[in-house]
Amino acid sequence: MARNPFKPTAGATPPVLVGRDSVLEDLDEALEDGAGSPYLLQFITGARGVGKTVMLTEMGRRARQQGWIVIDETATPKLIQRLTSAVRRHREELGQPSRRKITGAGISLGPFGGANLDLESPDRAAPGLREEIGMLCDALDLHDGETGLIITVDEIHTIPQSELEELTAITQHLIREDRPVGLLMAGIPQAVERMISDNAQRPKVSTFMRRAERTSLEEVPLHSVAAAFEQTLTEAGRSVSPEVAMECAQATGGYPFMIQLVGYHTWRIGKTGEVTSSHVAAGRDKARKRLGDLVHAPALADLSPVDRTFLTHMSQDSGPTRAIDMQTRMGEGSNYISVYRDRLIRAGMIQPAATYGRFEFALPELREYLRDHAAQLIAQSEN
Ligand SMILES: Nc1ncnc2c1ncn2[C@@H]1O[C@H](COP(=O)(O)OP(=O)(O)OP(=O)(O)O)[C@@H](O)[C@H]1O
Ligand SMILES: [Mg+2]
Repeated sequence: MARNPFKPTAGATPPVLVGRDSVLEDLDEALEDGAGSPYLLQFITGARGVGKTVMLTEMGRRARQQGWIVIDETATPKLIQRLTSAVRRHREELGQPSRRKITGAGISLGPFGGANLDLESPDRAAPGLREEIGMLCDALDLHDGETGLIITVDEIHTIPQSELEELTAITQHLIREDRPVGLLMAGIPQAVERMISDNAQRPKVSTFMRRAERTSLEEVPLHSVAAAFEQTLTEAGRSVSPEVAMECAQATGGYPFMIQLVGYHTWRIGKTGEVTSSHVAAGRDKARKRLGDLVHAPALADLSPVDRTFLTHMSQDSGPTRAIDMQTRMGEGSNYISVYRDRLIRAGMIQPAATYGRFEFALPELREYLRDHAAQLIAQSEN
């Protein structure tokens, strides 16, 4: 029996990366153009489970294939330190010695890169990130002038302020020096926006942020999802009619995490042979339940009790919610409601709706999950 090809796990590379061709084409072009290409400095944003981590992985894979060095990181504390060691390891592998012979004394690399270096002094501090990257690029240039270094940073919105400032300053200098360096960062859109607006008063950080390309990952078109189901199932030795493949696609709503969940569970129900409508119906039900456990439950656990109560009250509506209704339901004034609304928008749980002044859930099936678990969620909030 063939193995189930679907990968319903956060960060796991799917059998087909549906609907992301244009984003990847931009990157491919940037890798060809090299230093200074705009898509080498990029924020990839999108709701939970839309495929940001998987996109960084795929971008990194393509860059490696083109001969670039890729370092994948997450924006937790000591990011700069980890990046510095990773760059050093790559540089040493390329056979670039640590100590450069520099003629002319008193070269100062400035306060960025972790150290103010006097390259002439015998007992100087270890090179910081900026200098390490410089040396790595020199080494790459000796091997193959067409490539460079790509750094991917996931969950960029969780970065500590001081590390963001350092990363910004270092990247800006490297770009100015025309180094072939790319920085691809991913995060929840509203949290990334917040990070940018919080830094508006810091000229160094804000210039850098403005310069970066923004790529927003959205849900993918259903016809692409249906085609991907047909391809994946056929390649794995099953068969499916175009109509049933479209039923699968409809069950996902175009939401990438659901593509893997619906695929995985539909596969398991039949196991071999043709995939039928009844497999899809059962697979979809199972997928919805798993989405709750995998996406909604952990997302809700990160929130405060009031946030959870707020969302539970929102789930009474079958469409976008009005602030005035939330005042009544929560028994609070308009300021209170807008504070929580804004918090939840930044957390990526809700978003402004098309109708002015209203807001709605940002994640598929969240409303249904909240309705099913309302009693439990409100009890948790009261404890
Ligand atoms: N374009 C896509 N086509 C098919 N499946 C995808 C696609 N993008 C992501 N997936 C699948 O969706 C799931 C979630 O992907 P991923 O973990 O990258 O999302 P994320 O945006 O990083 O989520 P989070 O915000 O929670 O970190 C994984 O199972 C992955 O295989
Ligand atoms: Mg992720």
